[in-house]
Amino acid sequence: MTTCFIGIDLGTSACKVLALDTSGQVLATSMRDYPVVTTRPGWAEQDPALWWKATDDAVQDLVGRLPSGASVRGFGLSGQMHGLTALDEERQVIRSAILWNDQRAAPQCAEITERAGGLPGLLDLVQNRMLPGFTAGKILWLRQHEPTSFKGMRHLLNPKDFIRLQMTGELVTEVSDASGTGLFDVRERRWSSDLLRLLDIPEDLMPPVVESPEATGTLLPEVAQRWGLPASTPVFGGGGDAVIQTTAMGIIDDGAIGITLGTAGIVAGASGSCPDDIDGTLQISCGNAPDRWHVMGVSLVAGGAFQWLRDMLRTLVGPQLQYSSLVELARQAPPGSEDLLFLPYLLGERCPHVAPDARGSWVGLTPMHSAAHLSRSVLEGVLLNLRQIVEVCESTGLDCTQVRVSGGVTVEPLWMQMLSDVLNREVVTVTGAAEGGAYGAALVAGVGTGDLGTLADAAGLVRETSRFTPDAGNAEVYERLFTVHRGLYRTLEPTFAQLADAQR
Ligand code: XUL
Repeated sequence: MTTCFIGIDLGTSACKVLALDTSGQVLATSMRDYPVVTTRPGWAEQDPALWWKATDDAVQDLVGRLPSGASVRGFGLSGQMHGLTALDEERQVIRSAILWNDQRAAPQCAEITERAGGLPGLLDLVQNRMLPGFTAGKILWLRQHEPTSFKGMRHLLNPKDFIRLQMTGELVTEVSDASGTGLFDVRERRWSSDLLRLLDIPEDLMPPVVESPEATGTLLPEVAQRWGLPASTPVFGGGGDAVIQTTAMGIIDDGAIGITLGTAGIVAGASGSCPDDIDGTLQISCGNAPDRWHVMGVSLVAGGAFQWLRDMLRTLVGPQLQYSSLVELARQAPPGSEDLLFLPYLLGERCPHVAPDARGSWVGLTPMHSAAHLSRSVLEGVLLNLRQIVEVCESTGLDCTQVRVSGGVTVEPLWMQMLSDVLNREVVTVTGAAEGGAYGAALVAGVGTGDLGTLADAAGLVRETSRFTPDAGNAEVYERLFTVHRGLYRTLEPTFAQLADAQR
């Protein structure tokens, strides 16, 4: 009999699920997607009912494809962080979820920082700068702009915890995702009663919090029946995607950083203590092990820029246009795209700059540039921006010598080679890299059931699958462009501010 664990990752564009065996091998995967709704620049919302439908369908499909006699020992959950999912007394959704990449709450974040006694006071309470993507600012936004919704709100969940509620009937979150609300004392691993009080947010809106590998309930009978699994199947805490993707790369200690290339781009490391000298440039979260913390810089648009390019071109050439064709196109342009630079700030930015008003841009266009250059420059612009975050991480003392990569784009060698060239260091992909969050969630479930030992044991199952070494010539081109690219945000900042003011 094959023992396995199911990881569910409620991403921004799709729900991915997978089954993992005790040796860390992926047995089966499935996926269902859903749209992001943008009704105004800087806004991003999703209907939680679509999350649940996608999860329900994907798990049914996955279970149907497991080897016969496979025994599912438990579920782990991962998901997009920071999304405000507001529920009423009957635990029904009040309005669309406001997502992690939504920038509407910038003014409320300024207000929160002020009420907390400025940035030092805030860092003392929750160890993080108040970013517009975080849940806290959105709660204040709701109170000011949709008072009826706010008054009806009785429970507040992160996106993956909404899935937990549908699976188990339990209102629970875990420490890594709670960290991303901006209302959690990351150092002490509990809600910040002080900040909640300063903001007049009732603490009983927030769900109880567990550590990532703790059990949070079992499947509701009707869900168990639909999925063909015993109702006694446990569901474990899991983690916010950015954190659990790093765990999924086997990173739970200092010594390597993980880069996740999904819709967002995340550069992250792990630490055995909550860092002391915090200035708010990087985000700090609780790690998936009770004695670990997670440090990261998040760029809001990475793979998302390539998705935008594809979707835009699909309106011209039709739905048959695939990413692979765009990558082929990019391959036809030389490294550096003949000095065409792309800034990926389509949704504003969080790191290396806290810049909700930033906009995406191409700089350096000439008639010589073709569609191939445009395509390549998008990939390069995303990676040059991530290099800035790597340098911020390095400057805070994180050991960035070893770079591991995860995310859907790891299947694309051109991206991986480009990453190695842009960073001018070796990068490795690991088992489960393309499945990231779902893989990490399944590992955490295996720790929860006791089958995989400690989180460090489970992380030890992760194996290197490929290695990319920088090409000296390409690295030289990128070194020169990096210096120019790095300066562009500051140069364009006044323009971005003018554009944003005009839209307010
Ligand atoms: C992390 C973050 C993203 C989202 C979506 O801070 O905003 O990782 O969780 O993937």
